[in-house]
Amino acid sequence: MTKHLILDVLTGQKTLRTPVWMMRQAGRYLPDYMVLRKQYSFFERCQTPELVCEITLQPVDQIGVDAAIIFSDILVVPQAMGLEVQMVESKGPLLPDPIKDMSDLKRLTTPSVEDTLGYVAKALTLTKKELSGRVPLIGFAGAPWTLLCYMVEGKGSKTFDKAKAFCYTQPEAAHKLLQMITDTTIAYLKMQVKAGADLVQLFDSWGGLLSPSDFEAFSLYYMRQIVAALKEDCPVILFAKGAWFALKDMSETGANGIGIDWCVPPQYARQQVGKHVTLQGNFDPTWLLAPIPQIRSKVKHMVQHFGNDRYIANLGHGILPNTPVTHAKAFVEAVKEYSESPILETV
Ligand code: CP3
Repeated sequence: MTKHLILDVLTGQKTLRTPVWMMRQAGRYLPDYMVLRKQYSFFERCQTPELVCEITLQPVDQIGVDAAIIFSDILVVPQAMGLEVQMVESKGPLLPDPIKDMSDLKRLTTPSVEDTLGYVAKALTLTKKELSGRVPLIGFAGAPWTLLCYMVEGKGSKTFDKAKAFCYTQPEAAHKLLQMITDTTIAYLKMQVKAGADLVQLFDSWGGLLSPSDFEAFSLYYMRQIVAALKEDCPVILFAKGAWFALKDMSETGANGIGIDWCVPPQYARQQVGKHVTLQGNFDPTWLLAPIPQIRSKVKHMVQHFGNDRYIANLGHGILPNTPVTHAKAFVEAVKEYSESPILETV
């Protein structure tokens, strides 16, 4: 019965309760993940299908989420295109030789995704088999703008000002790079669907750093191409953190779902996207650090405000590594409990 909850909600069918999963649900807050983290490097974990499968299933088995999201990273795409990507302990991603100008683009290719990212396909197929239909399997990729941010900046940043300056001073090179990323991402996501992903999500973590017109030019223009290319293959969710101003435009791409962060009021989001798009979000991940009774009351408030029509409960961004497992579980259980409320049947 719960097997297809998320797929049903994304395609506009009524469900008995709201489905729930958490962005970055496989990771450092789980003790079993930490054991594997001590034994293998980050990219070893990503590139070994058996490890990916094990890590992907951990939150399904231990937290009770309604979907599995394949364990990987958005930065495997720049890696496949030819850039070196390192994951530095307690610092995050580092790209030692980032893109600076048009001539640097010669170092990149639009690769065969089967040759360079075939390990993700293998992991999806194995995980799908191990899930044996318990919950749907989510594939994902970074949105082109967010990948450009890392490829040009070379590391994480609060402002990504180098990446933005690259777009404003060298728009031709920026658009060439964004198109290369887009073409690679379309092939990559299609491969993921063929290998077993039931739906895909695009993460535009840094979309909210752009003005509305720059977001259209440097982000949405490319996400639109990806949605159009994937539409026939599976449901697509777009999550552009901070891009509250573009909700209506994103809803008009043909995406089935739009993710929102905790700064967007549910009623505002619904007004913007209309009735025929599924909203996903938007619990502040930091609220998971509060005592469980407080988490439960915030969840109750959230599910009541979104209603149980075309809504997937999630966090408004990735779960924090210092989240107690019991709190993550309380979040998931509270969504299940409160969204079944008969009061909501009429909303
Ligand atoms: O959601 C899941 O459980 C699937 C796995 C997943 C990871 N990264 C694993 C990971 C997903 C969907 C991502 C997406 C991702 N990666 C995004 C978009 C979502 C977001 O949070 O904004 C971004 C921007 C990245 C890039 C990235 N990867 C950063 C900035 C970092 C370091 C900081 C951090 O959050 O850990 C990573 C490393 C990373 N990716 C880890 C995991 C579990 C931590 C690695 C470790 O230390 O074990």
